[in-house]
Amino acid sequence: MINRPRRLRTTPAMRELVADVALSPKNLMLPVFVKEGITEPREIKGMPGVLQHTEETFLHVLDDAIAAGIVSVMFFAVPEHRDETGSQACLSEGILSRVIKAAREHVGDALVLVADLCLDEFTDHGHCGVLNSSGAVDNDATLEHYIAMASVLAETGADLLGTSGMMDGQVAAIRAGLDARGFVNTGILAYAAKYASNFYGPFRNAVESQLSGDRKTYQQDFRRTKEGAEEILLDLEEGADMVMVKPALAYMDVLTQAAQLSSKPVAAYVVSGEYSMVETAAAQGVIPREATIFELLYALKRAGANIICTYWALEFAQKLKEQS
Ligand code: PBG
Repeated sequence: MINRPRRLRTTPAMRELVADVALSPKNLMLPVFVKEGITEPREIKGMPGVLQHTEETFLHVLDDAIAAGIVSVMFFAVPEHRDETGSQACLSEGILSRVIKAAREHVGDALVLVADLCLDEFTDHGHCGVLNSSGAVDNDATLEHYIAMASVLAETGADLLGTSGMMDGQVAAIRAGLDARGFVNTGILAYAAKYASNFYGPFRNAVESQLSGDRKTYQQDFRRTKEGAEEILLDLEEGADMVMVKPALAYMDVLTQAAQLSSKPVAAYVVSGEYSMVETAAAQGVIPREATIFELLYALKRAGANIICTYWALEFAQKLKEQS
């Protein structure tokens, strides 16, 4: 007798019956870019279909997200002025704070509002932290800036802070800073395993990054096998409420490790270059766009992601809603 796995593949109904992973709009977190001082939305080089929004137009995106069943949005702000320490990041009237405030007024509690907590959009050198006298990123001095930024963002009403800077001890420092100021309900979405990746290229256009050089002294080296797990465990011990793996598609092994290690929700971030890679191949007609994107999103769920942060969130939430 031969074993016949094909029996469970015979009809669409049979395949539905045995499908293990499901995908829902609520699994999809939508990243949104808002640029200070512009009057019309702008296209982003390398990210077809993604826009830098004005302080007005992004509110329509939130309405669309809610209508599609999305429950979380992650904000990145592009400031008009940058300086050595990224001081605009810590101003309660800065662009990111204004965005969070406006979003909260507009949507109430309908969306979980996640604010990126990092200095790279705000520094004139483009690094995720402040520099010491020899020009290296100063870990412990940076933590003080992160604590200040966290307080401002918590004050404006962010639900979750996306700690994306990869400084050692950042989750513990930010958690302690928030608690000391009474922000006990502001959570931390820790970019726990974040690699120094070549797939961030288009994002750097999106936030007009000033970086020259790389982030290899703070983001992880993709040749290491166990460091991802170490970073995830550290962030959980330090008080992370969720942990993220980034990039996603080239790091599904890390994602599966994260899902096994973490009792907290696990997120995966399909980054800008991964998005562009698929869009470019689809535009050339070498892969079917929609089916391929669904395949990737299901693969991320199968690998262990509870939440998928993706530039496809709005469009694919709409498609999922139509299907149901
Ligand atoms: C840093 C940050 C980056 C991304 C999100 N947050 C870029 C970097 O580390 O250089 C990349 C996201 C993407 O490529 O889509 N604050």
